[in-house]
Amino acid sequence: MSVTFCGRQLEHRVVNGSGTFDAIAAERAFGPALRAAFPFSAYVSKTITLRPRDGNAPPRLWETPAGMVNSIGLPNKGVAAYLAEDLPRYAMLPVPLITNVMGGTGEELAEVAAAVGHRPEIFALELNVSCPNVATGLDIGAVPSDLEAVVRRVRAVTAKPLIVKLTPNTADVTLCAQAAEAAGADAVSLINTLRAVPLHPDGRGGRWLGSGQGGLSGPAIRVVALAQVAAVAERVALPIIGMGGVQHGRHAADLLSAGATLVAVGTESFRDPRAAGRITEELKALENAGRARTPPGGQASVCP
Ligand SMILES: Cc1cc2nc3c(=O)[nH]c(=O)nc-3n(C[C@H](O)[C@H](O)[C@H](O)COP(=O)(O)O)c2cc1C
Repeated sequence: MSVTFCGRQLEHRVVNGSGTFDAIAAERAFGPALRAAFPFSAYVSKTITLRPRDGNAPPRLWETPAGMVNSIGLPNKGVAAYLAEDLPRYAMLPVPLITNVMGGTGEELAEVAAAVGHRPEIFALELNVSCPNVATGLDIGAVPSDLEAVVRRVRAVTAKPLIVKLTPNTADVTLCAQAAEAAGADAVSLINTLRAVPLHPDGRGGRWLGSGQGGLSGPAIRVVALAQVAAVAERVALPIIGMGGVQHGRHAADLLSAGATLVAVGTESFRDPRAAGRITEELKALENAGRARTPPGGQASVCP
């Protein structure tokens, strides 16, 4: 199961989706047993920004029949407090650390990346580009030329491996992946959540979430993730972290078949914080039985 990713040997192929597993809170809940049998082969931190953010107004969650919509709004303590308070704790984890960063402009994103980009405790950076550009209101990662410019700025300030987390809320994710590759990204990860608007259950047509809209994750988006991972794998040579609705080893195996090198578990960890360990074991069993690389029914050339 071990795999080389961006020059680093990882014990297996399962990591966490940013923002879906708080390793510090989990250690409080599970004690030293968590570190002894850490479920992920690399740990991805929640998105951090230059300045602290409170996050969005409540309500922040909505359960759908096959997933959930969140509008958490990326609350975080800001990069200075992240470095002072969280990094020393993440550095104790038994796996490499990937720090996820975001900014409302290329300049801001590069500033956060520069602040974390020389720290030896950090293996790689993941750029969350599903953030509205303060100038245009469009997601920075949704427009290939904007994305390319942003990744170039970040590339210039750090030698660490750069993983660009692509947004699925764009016309053609493969163009964004190609833009990231052209700008010097070392890997891409996908998919982030799909934009969604749950209505208030009182039936009057008002919006439920405090911020009006959120992002859909979980089993409902698994087939979208398969389609996008397969399409991106056809167009770029970069390693891919595939995610979206992974609940079982079979789902992880399908993303690997579609072209991913690593797979991330996200929403399933909220339902069962021990899910990633189970999924890794299920994936190992499939690999041992020679059944992990079965092509997922022609997913590699998905055309609507
Ligand atoms: C509650 C919640 C918080 C999230 N926070 C972040 C985040 O801080 N940064 C980020 O890049 N992605 C974030 N994501 C997106 C996930 O990392 C992942 O891309 C997405 O949920 C799809 O995977 P899943 O269906 O397995 O959850 C979040 C998702 C959820 C559900």
